[in-house]
Amino acid sequence: MQLQNWIQLWISCLAFPARGVDAQPLPRDIVDWASLRCPSDSTSKLPTPNYGSDNAVFMICTETIINASPQAVYNAVLDFKSYDVWNSFVFHVDLPANVTVTPEDVYVGMPMPLHTYGVLPLINTTSDEEMTVLDGCATDGCLLTAWRSDVVGTKAEHPSIVTDQGNGMSRYISYETYYEAILTPGVWTLKGQLQERFQQQGLDLKAYVEAL
Ligand SMILES: *[C@@H]1O[C@H](CO)[C@@H](O)[C@H](O)[C@H]1NC(C)=O
Ligand SMILES: *[C@@H]1O[C@H](CO)[C@@H](O)[C@H](O)[C@H]1NC(C)=O
Repeated sequence: MQLQNWIQLWISCLAFPARGVDAQPLPRDIVDWASLRCPSDSTSKLPTPNYGSDNAVFMICTETIINASPQAVYNAVLDFKSYDVWNSFVFHVDLPANVTVTPEDVYVGMPMPLHTYGVLPLINTTSDEEMTVLDGCATDGCLLTAWRSDVVGTKAEHPSIVTDQGNGMSRYISYETYYEAILTPGVWTLKGQLQERFQQQGLDLKAYVEAL
């Protein structure tokens, strides 16, 4: 191999350490997703479907009981076209041209840049994300979807888990675990705002779905 190619290979290993989903058996197959709850302390971290629990640095988490069926909650989480209507955190999601109906057209690997409000003062932020998991919960009455950050220098995945509580009620848990990566320390400084925005998003979802 020519020197130039070696240098190129070395640079891509350096620049993209966190990209590409791990090749070993995925943690999604060994975690009991239906049993997960937001930790009550500020240091515990929940695993994610593609990155597991190793090298987790911090997490944000929210959970709420919603007076609607798990399928209704899950569909609203994946109905990205309606985020403009109800979501005060992610106020818009850019979708590929061939995704015209959500949640029906959503697919694993779909790029989905998020437009977010309230993370930084005065400016709206965007975050490139990619759909990683649909219908990922093997337990009855449990639905799991996830997407991950697709920004170079970050490593984070955001699962949403909806479990059946009986009597037409659902428990919705939404969290994002951030793993060791070059930009993680910077994002960590925003943990307070991100946590507040996540909680508000959970409340917005509850209000929206319960009014459907
Ligand atoms: C849209 O395009 C992606 C990638 O080319 C493909 O995987 C997906 O099935 C397409 N979806 C629809 C609804 O055509
Ligand atoms: C940020 O987005 C909101 C929509 O939620 C919009 O009302 C506001 O004007 C935007 N702010 C900036 C600085 O672009």
